[in-house]
Amino acid sequence: LFGSMEIKDNQLYIGGISSKELVEKHGSPLYVMDEALISKNMETFKAAFKSDRFQTEVVYASKAFLTTGMCQIVDRHGLSMDVVSGGELFTVKSAGFPMEKVHMHGNNKTWEELEMCLDYGIGEIIVDNRDELDKLERVCREKGKKINVLLRVNPGIEAHTHEYIQTSTYSSKFGESIFDENIKDIIKKFIAAEHVELKGFHCHIGSQIFDEKPFFAAMDTMLKFIKQMKDEAGLDTTVLNLGGGFGVYYFDGDDAVDFEKFCKEMIKDLESKLDEYEIDLDKVIIEPGRSIVANAGTTLYTVGGTKVTYSGKKYVFVDGGMTDNIRPALYQAEYEGVIANRINEKTEDLVTVAGKCCESGDLLLRDVYLQEAKEGDILAISTTGAYNYSMASNYNRIRKPAVVFVKDGESKVAVKRESYEDLIRNDLKLY
Ligand code: LLP
Repeated sequence: LFGSMEIKDNQLYIGGISSKELVEKHGSPLYVMDEALISKNMETFKAAFKSDRFQTEVVYASKAFLTTGMCQIVDRHGLSMDVVSGGELFTVKSAGFPMEKVHMHGNNKTWEELEMCLDYGIGEIIVDNRDELDKLERVCREKGKKINVLLRVNPGIEAHTHEYIQTSTYSSKFGESIFDENIKDIIKKFIAAEHVELKGFHCHIGSQIFDEKPFFAAMDTMLKFIKQMKDEAGLDTTVLNLGGGFGVYYFDGDDAVDFEKFCKEMIKDLESKLDEYEIDLDKVIIEPGRSIVANAGTTLYTVGGTKVTYSGKKYVFVDGGMTDNIRPALYQAEYEGVIANRINEKTEDLVTVAGKCCESGDLLLRDVYLQEAKEGDILAISTTGAYNYSMASNYNRIRKPAVVFVKDGESKVAVKRESYEDLIRNDLKLY
């Protein structure tokens, strides 16, 4: 049970509301976000990632989960925001989020996106590579504006996570390698650039990482690199952004990162290494996404029926699937689920939970023990707050579920359920 979840009258409650009531009121499937837990996660990062020696900044990686309401929550807690596309940028701007606290990422920012960054007056752009610097200089020149930037570098750290979400191996598409033979010249080009102020570096080694060692290895590599660039390129680095990627609990066997402890250890290690390498930094940044929203999200589905195959495999069919949660199909991600309206019953039925897409890989839970499910039951899958809604699709023209935030017995719609009309909104007849 995460955050405000509790069990009452044989049912799962979230934010003080029963699963049954949530589905009756808002329909199914439904993304439910526990607002108090999101707040707690944010405050934990803010309190633990603090130093007397340098400023710190916690930037929420909005790709994990972004809606207008979410921007308001991030703002209320005083976190900054990381965006990677014109769409995320537009959402954040429209929500009234302070633009100076926005950091723009992306390995292939378009001209339009670079222009938006300058027009909106965002705080900082993380430049991915040398060619992007030229592009950005041109846009700045045309607009007569200057901007602070970090250069994304790749420290070549292999973190143990799914291959698709590793981002810092030698052949990764992200950033400039610190081992590139031209790295010094690249940095000098940044220093010489007229409209761009190089403040420092960014790295991000991957996502859903449990092992703390690669984070410390990356940090050490980055500090050595900063020292080297100070000595060899004359760069006075003031900002270091260490990215996100902290692993969270999804299912029994996952060993979640204790963020509080981890942040404190990171700060301690940083402080002592600054002395050791004789460098100074004004600010250190982290960019957690998943660890802020994952455990705050639960998806509620309605069971449509069950089926036992010729081979004896039992399926439970639900009214959502890979369109609202692509992660099992894409990363073999595992989750935990319960029949939320009869939660105290014994979990003795070995089943696979399948969605409604025309795709054999459309499975949400594989070979798990559940309460015996029947039509009309509510299946709750936990830890769906990160990269579920944000990666949802309309495959098979399935409508995206609504998103509600729950807190203290109240539920608020953050995103309306898509309608059939929404699905054809941009379609035009050809004849
Ligand atoms: N900073 C940068 C530059 C990133 O690329 C990412 C995630 C983050 C921060 C936040 O990482 P987090 O704290 O959320 O792990 N769709 C995949 C995850 C992709 C992560 C991409 N970058 C998934 O569903 O597991």
